[in-house]
Amino acid sequence: MVREASGEQRRLSRKLRLPILLALWAQCLSLFITLTAAVVFPAAAGVDLPAWVLVLLQGVGAAVMSRLFKLAPWWLPMQLAFPLALLLAWSLQLPSTVYLAAFLFCLLLYWTTFRTQVPFYPSGPLVWSMVEELLPRDRPLRVIDIGSGFGGMALRLAERRPDSTVIGIEVAPLPWLCSRLRAACRHSGAQFWRGDYHELDFGDFDVVFAYLSPAAMPALWEKVRAEMRSGSLLLSYEFPIPEVQSQIANRCGKRGTILYGWHI
Ligand SMILES: C[S@@+](CC[C@H](N)C(=O)[O-])C[C@H]1O[C@@H](n2cnc3c(N)ncnc32)[C@H](O)[C@@H]1O
Repeated sequence: MVREASGEQRRLSRKLRLPILLALWAQCLSLFITLTAAVVFPAAAGVDLPAWVLVLLQGVGAAVMSRLFKLAPWWLPMQLAFPLALLLAWSLQLPSTVYLAAFLFCLLLYWTTFRTQVPFYPSGPLVWSMVEELLPRDRPLRVIDIGSGFGGMALRLAERRPDSTVIGIEVAPLPWLCSRLRAACRHSGAQFWRGDYHELDFGDFDVVFAYLSPAAMPALWEKVRAEMRSGSLLLSYEFPIPEVQSQIANRCGKRGTILYGWHI
């Protein structure tokens, strides 16, 4: 009973420490300081602080708080720029429907990125062919792209490996729907499931391909170690697994990003 309660507390504290929530706390605390300055300064000095000073104060305050909260370095410029972006957007005086449409689009595209810390950004044909070349050719395979985005990888692999079962799983509704439509239009054998790859049993697959983010890699490795069968293959584009040596590290294209692979 005591153990269950502490597990629950741990889960709650993990949720409260989500970077997006810490970033929000940082903006709120900074807003408190900025509003205090906006009231106290005119009373003390007899002059109002100009809007740009308040915006700068808000951004700098939020960036400093983010540093104190130990958020990853890329949050600092975002926190700094956020109030400025708000001011610019407000000055454009766009109709509110534009914001609603933009919000809905981002919601359907990014969905639970605030939790997974894996936003959508696509790989490309070069990566797809490199993955194709790494697939064992001596038998039919079950291959899955975890976080399949708009389905490019799975569609390509299904086309090139008709002997195999190729699946893409995607948590965000918009990319998932687009990949289903693309598969239907092309009469592709690729299957697209909507859901969270954490719910899958990786033991059902011979090859797991991931293009996720640094934040997702440690938990992915835990899952791979617990579930993937011996003889199967994990591939990850761009992001290595911290402190786990890969057996495959193939450079892709001009950017020099690497396709990593681990034989299990
Ligand atoms: C960087 S994109 C890669 C897209 C695609 N695999 C490609 O190579 O173009 C990562 C995708 O993973 C999805 N994703 C993130 N976490 C997920 C999860 N737990 N389960 C399923 N999909 C997830 C995101 O919505 C996003 O579309």
